[in-house]
Amino acid sequence: MSFLETKHLLGLRGVSRNDLRTILDTAKQFREILDRPVKKVPSLRGITVVNLFFENSTRTRISFELAEKRLSADSVNFTSSSSSLTKGESLLDTMKNIEAMKIDLVVVRHKGTGVPAFLARHSGAIIINAGDGANEHPNQGLLDIFTMEQKYGSMEGRVVTIVGDVRHSRVARSNIWGLHTLGAKVRLCGPATLMPRNRNFFEAAGVEFISDIHQALDGADAVIALRLQKERQEDSLLPTLREYRNFFGVTSEALQHAKPEVLIMHPGPINRGVEIDSSVADGPNSVILDQVTNGVAVRMAVMYLLSGGRADE
Ligand code: CP
Repeated sequence: MSFLETKHLLGLRGVSRNDLRTILDTAKQFREILDRPVKKVPSLRGITVVNLFFENSTRTRISFELAEKRLSADSVNFTSSSSSLTKGESLLDTMKNIEAMKIDLVVVRHKGTGVPAFLARHSGAIIINAGDGANEHPNQGLLDIFTMEQKYGSMEGRVVTIVGDVRHSRVARSNIWGLHTLGAKVRLCGPATLMPRNRNFFEAAGVEFISDIHQALDGADAVIALRLQKERQEDSLLPTLREYRNFFGVTSEALQHAKPEVLIMHPGPINRGVEIDSSVADGPNSVILDQVTNGVAVRMAVMYLLSGGRADE
């Protein structure tokens, strides 16, 4: 039984303010556990988690695995390249067979938009989206907001600028919806070819589109630089990487227009010298590695709350 209004975590769009607050506040308690000498609690003892990754991952996968260990869950890892999918088994048959082994919770990453929602409709397991295509990456959005709240307390009225390839970014979408629900102002900045096609839809939610990076950073409390997907250059969606950096790179020069205390964020993996300079990524305002640390606590909170675990033990 979920301790949240939502049964699964498929995206942050439509997740209530109440649920967001419960997850972020619970994550604070789990974050403290990560600073203890013994970083383990029995909250998910007896719960079985399957990590179903159909796409490469460093941060998300290791973070979920660690979160499961910290909560004393039993967990197994699935790798599509060594599974019976290579023999033609369908995704649904794969899922039904895994479910028949009496699992409770499935963490899924897939290049196809909507795969986690599809699995949620067709299985009895609790589904957590670990990134689906260009749709959503809800636990990344949550860990980003958690990291911002560590500095600002509340995100109400705060300005967050997201720079780069928003069109293909699930990280951007989850941040947009989560931040919007929590009362922050979101600005999007990047080349027109990398902005979402359904701009009106985002504008209706109060999102601002600003093509000039200096204006987009003016007064920003946090900036999220998105990974530039270099393959987009081949799709003719980009000029040269050098030109991209000149216009949209998060550089020390561009940051002169932001508040002195602006938080520098990036979901990783980073293309240094393209979407962000090393001096900024490794500089005093960077919380990029804090995001990674906080990710474990946020994932602990999400799994604990969705499975109705026992945090007080
Ligand atoms: N931020 C993120 O999703 O990174 P990985 O692709 O390494 O999991």
